[in-house]
Amino acid sequence: MITLKDGNIPSREEAAKKSKGLEGIVAAQTGISHIDGINGRLYYRGIDINDLAANSTFEETTALLWYGKLPTKGQLERFQQKFADNRLIPNDVISILLSLPKKTSPMGVLRTAVSVMATYDPDEGDNSLEANVNKSIRLTASMPTVVAAWNRIRNGLWPVTPSKTLSHAANFLYMLTDRVPTETEAKVLDTALILHADHGLNASTFAARITASTLSNLHSSITSAIGTLKGPLHGGANEQVMRMLLEIGDVDRVEQYLRGMFAAKKKIMGFGHRVYKADDPRAAWLQKLSREISESTNNMRWYQMSERIREIVQEKTSLPINVDFYSASLYYTLNIPIDLFTPIFAISRVAGWTAHVYEQYSDNRLIRPESEYIGPMNVPYVPISERE
Ligand SMILES: CC(C)(COP(=O)(O)OP(=O)(O)OC[C@H]1O[C@@H](n2cnc3c(N)ncnc32)[C@H](O)[C@@H]1OP(=O)(O)O)[C@@H](O)C(=O)NCCC(=O)NCCS
Repeated sequence: MITLKDGNIPSREEAAKKSKGLEGIVAAQTGISHIDGINGRLYYRGIDINDLAANSTFEETTALLWYGKLPTKGQLERFQQKFADNRLIPNDVISILLSLPKKTSPMGVLRTAVSVMATYDPDEGDNSLEANVNKSIRLTASMPTVVAAWNRIRNGLWPVTPSKTLSHAANFLYMLTDRVPTETEAKVLDTALILHADHGLNASTFAARITASTLSNLHSSITSAIGTLKGPLHGGANEQVMRMLLEIGDVDRVEQYLRGMFAAKKKIMGFGHRVYKADDPRAAWLQKLSREISESTNNMRWYQMSERIREIVQEKTSLPINVDFYSASLYYTLNIPIDLFTPIFAISRVAGWTAHVYEQYSDNRLIRPESEYIGPMNVPYVPISERE
């Protein structure tokens, strides 16, 4: 049942008017994450994101999202081991990556690889919860391998075999660079992955749930989600923020650049949100991480420019800052290529997508809204010989 936030069921006319972009519509119940947009708070399974960012790891947070509570020490060790054991991707998938045009976007590659990996998954035809958790472990563990392998292949390098001992975040950086990252680098990325792991009924999660609601399989749901995350109004915004920073080039040019953006009524990437009216709590963490990595690498340029943009945008507008703003300077300072920013979002958000797929299956009803037809009626069929 689709309801408005105040609990009322709208008339068809009201619904069509009010719900452009489904704003304010409650389209699912969930126990996975909760956004308090007024106060700028986010909770995973009831735990404040600030506590998770300060204390957890991506692996532990994934277990929390999937199983509903924090794992015990033994459970977490077994869970981490399963992740480490499932990082390799089939050789045939590597062959497919080798055959793709080098200009293919990493998000396009990831979407394709996830779709192909369904055919290699031993549980492909099984939609039970147990099989879906196994598929999720394989997918979550191996998506970073796809992204890192693609980055090396397109640069004429052979992919780095995943480590079995490094953490999820550290292993990704290792596969990207063939160098074990410093503790700071690994910790910063790990925290960024925690912060991106779930976020209510955002567009890509909704896409995953719609696909699951047809009782299609888990890989199809995640493929839909990746395609949806790719857009610049969703996950693709972090790449756009970095392109803006590069275009501005210097902190002294920020003011003039923004004046032009305001005058042309152009959207400033990294600001605005459908649900948050206050600043996104993840942005404060990403700001801190961006500052930390900038200080530790002695490269304050992108962080300082971001700070100046934030000051001016928040002086002139009431737009809240969102998750994509500081992740741009953070990843760039970590030497990550710009078009990998959104894939990094995906390798984290897959934890939430898969949790939502289980939740959808557990109490499923086909998601099938209606549209209001506004085209012409009773149009005669004109034979082709009489058409002009
Ligand atoms: C996230 C986003 C898509 C939410 O969109 P939405 O809820 O549909 O809100 P709208 O796009 O309808 O914006 C509402 C108003 O705020 C303005 N606005 C929203 N985000 C803006 C931004 N980043 N810069 C400037 N103006 C913005 C819109 O122009 C619009 O103004 P108007 O009413 O005068 O036309 C939107 O804020 C946006 O495009 N942000 C930039 C992209 C981004 O950072 N995305 C990542 C989201 S996590």
